[in-house]
Amino acid sequence: MKYCLYKKEKKEIVPVTGIEENKLAKVKLSEIFEKRQELRIPSRFIEDWKSVALFQTNGDITKANSILFPNEKSAFALNNTLNDLTAKEWLPETVTVFSQKGLGAGNKDAQIEKQHPAPFSFQDVGRLIQFYSKENDKVLDPFSGVASTAKACAFNNRVGYGIELNPKYYELAKKRIEIEVPSEQKGKGLQNLINGDSKEEIKKIKKDFFDFIVTSPPYWNILETIDHKGKERVNNDLDHKYSEDSKDFANIEDYTLFLETLSSFFNDCARILKKGKYMCVIVSDFRKKDKYYTFHADLANELEKKGNFVLKGVRILYQRHKAIYPYGYPFSFVPNMHHQNVLIFQNIKKK
Ligand SMILES: C[S@@+](CC[C@H](N)C(=O)[O-])C[C@H]1O[C@@H](n2cnc3c(N)ncnc32)[C@H](O)[C@@H]1O
Repeated sequence: MKYCLYKKEKKEIVPVTGIEENKLAKVKLSEIFEKRQELRIPSRFIEDWKSVALFQTNGDITKANSILFPNEKSAFALNNTLNDLTAKEWLPETVTVFSQKGLGAGNKDAQIEKQHPAPFSFQDVGRLIQFYSKENDKVLDPFSGVASTAKACAFNNRVGYGIELNPKYYELAKKRIEIEVPSEQKGKGLQNLINGDSKEEIKKIKKDFFDFIVTSPPYWNILETIDHKGKERVNNDLDHKYSEDSKDFANIEDYTLFLETLSSFFNDCARILKKGKYMCVIVSDFRKKDKYYTFHADLANELEKKGNFVLKGVRILYQRHKAIYPYGYPFSFVPNMHHQNVLIFQNIKKK
């Protein structure tokens, strides 16, 4: 007999064996299938609906409001309005530390990203996209560089929008989506790349258009300092800064003015993001002329003060593959910055 209802027993997921309950569960599953669009059931369940069963912790059919693939041993709650994850997939994403996953410098699909001085890994941003949005949701990266966010959106079936000021990175980004995303990925055709100044471009976007914003902005003008890594890029004839454009946030000379401009920009993003939805900003602290800047905290505080977003938490992304340089050795402590802070904000805009 094919069981249509499962429950939890001693931490295990087991079938409810009663014939009546299974008959009722079958009917309820058909009703759920009819309402699949309204309920926004993830496509992986729809594509294999015959294997899907109902789940309720105590096996109570009247209260059953989750579905599962019995072999996955974790259920998807039908009232999950945030993402498409099962409970088992959800929980690790609430842990405040996670490790970077990259393709490795030698991978053929890592050659375009290398041409940008500060890309993030599309797999890491993919994890954020999977947690803070659902399939077919609209996701914005207002500092899109070589479109790691759009690439992650393409693989995760989200409608991505990327705004990038430098025409060179914009062109590389288009090429990247073209050659690094296989045609069979449904999300490939859903990506929208814009070459322009994000401060101006966001004004053209309708109110409440996006479901999630994820980005990594310039970290002030730190790329101007040619450290060990910068020297390696210069020697290999690669860009070590983004541009000379005065609209480039990285070309604002004064740190206080930079923070004010960047936090005002993010505060303005509340208009185009639905209320209650999230914005993740990936930043790292840095040193400049012997001063350590707590950039992640400075930005979080400035943005919260402006009123449209609240900080819900910070997750540390450990960049475990980065090279270690002998900064300070053998005289003083100078950190090798091997982590990024994912600042997680929720949109609480009043208007
Ligand atoms: C940290 S990088 C983002 C890299 C991106 N996450 C990736 O993986 O490629 C910041 C980007 O912001 C861009 N930028 C700076 N000022 C901008 C502006 N006013 N409008 C749009 N993009 C801007 C820079 O050219 C740079 O590519």
